[in-house]
Amino acid sequence: MKIAVVGTGYVGLVSGTCFAETGHHVICVDNDSSKVEKLKGGELTIYEPGLDTVFLRNTKEERLSFTTNLEEAVKVSDVIFLALPTPPGEDGSADLSYVLGVAEQIGHIIDKDEYKVLVDKSTVPVGTAEKVHAVVAKNCKGAFDVVSNPEFLREGVAVDDFLRPDRVVIGTSSERAKETMQRLYEPFVRQGNPIYFMDERSAEMTKYAANSYLATRITFMNEIANLCEKVGANVDNVRIGMGSDGRIGKRFLFSGVGYGGSCFPKDVQALFKTAKEHDYDFKLLDSVMGVNGAQKFKLAEKMNAYFDGNLKGKKIAIWGLAFKPNTDDIREAPAIYTIRELLKAGAEVYAYDPEAMENMKEIFGDQVTFVEHRYDALKGVDALGIVTEWNLFRTPDFNYMGELMKDKVIFDGRNLYNTKDMKELGFYYNSIGRTT
Ligand code: UGA
Repeated sequence: MKIAVVGTGYVGLVSGTCFAETGHHVICVDNDSSKVEKLKGGELTIYEPGLDTVFLRNTKEERLSFTTNLEEAVKVSDVIFLALPTPPGEDGSADLSYVLGVAEQIGHIIDKDEYKVLVDKSTVPVGTAEKVHAVVAKNCKGAFDVVSNPEFLREGVAVDDFLRPDRVVIGTSSERAKETMQRLYEPFVRQGNPIYFMDERSAEMTKYAANSYLATRITFMNEIANLCEKVGANVDNVRIGMGSDGRIGKRFLFSGVGYGGSCFPKDVQALFKTAKEHDYDFKLLDSVMGVNGAQKFKLAEKMNAYFDGNLKGKKIAIWGLAFKPNTDDIREAPAIYTIRELLKAGAEVYAYDPEAMENMKEIFGDQVTFVEHRYDALKGVDALGIVTEWNLFRTPDFNYMGELMKDKVIFDGRNLYNTKDMKELGFYYNSIGRTT
């Protein structure tokens, strides 16, 4: 099959590369010519573990190519994926202008006697497939179907998630499109995982429901953690005790400094907005957004309390800037909120992250000292704050850290260390939801 993927962001680039890996010819389209030039030159535009190998293999074998020319890509393709941004508009609803703009252009390109399947891969509000259909139909001389196929991959493990998905969700009311999609996805579900076919609206809703549920689950655990601190319990014990109930499950129960990234915050907000538009007050999501917003300040609050409200002139090290490990993505990262508060209070910040420092420099410039190695951040500091759980931070040399730091004080937003060990090592150690 010949496939076009419009939009070479996270989802577009990973999807395009993985479809090429199963033997299809994929043309990725982007209107950003510098991005396209880079990709053509064999250079990836995102940091994603494992993507480079698959990318280089498929570009070398000429199954994966890049262009800025939408018409050229649509002409030769049977299936066209729309993997375009849907950023939050001013009122929090998803902005569909990129998706609908490209759909309109595609309508002009499809000729009579041609049949194309257009696939919404971006996270789009309920009813978008119908809108895309209407916009394409305005100018289209040929035949086409619009399918909703939400993507569930996670940054950091995107390639594996795409090649071995738990499930594939396809929303379509067309038998012809269903057959095409089935053929496309069969190689990814050979171990027996399901492809669920449903109507377009349910597929669109599934994506928002899944992300909002996961965000709610994390938020619930953050509230349990906050309460554990008050009642003298340990949230890690509680998590294990809860999670071993098969109905609850062990995954995605880790409390911390709030969820971030380009998806959960945006999608929870958009679903809340969709509910409002349909006269439904989704109170639970409203609370989730409020609680998560507050949780992102947790580490800075803890530090402020420890220093009796006087952070002025204090030297604070920050380990971890990305919104989660194995990515350089800092969108809605808790580290932004932590650092902003510390700077506001007059602290000096020394920061380290294995991948995300360049991105963070764009926000804080020289207000923050960015260091090359994790231990460089610790020289003479009054405290260390850990915001992202990179593996690199899990087993550091505590004795060396103690020698470097002015005071042996750690605020851990990701519960990386054992509280008893830290006490024995002579550290003041404050983590999330653990008093024991
Ligand atoms: C999320 C979903 O997990 C994907 O299924 C979905 O496809 C994607 O959004 C999307 O809509 O594109 P992602 O944003 O890459 O993926 O990251 P996650 O691994 O889900 O983490 C999101 C946030 O939750 C991070 O800030 C992470 O630190 C936090 N988190 C996660 C917790 O605080 N506790 C946990 O137990 C798990």
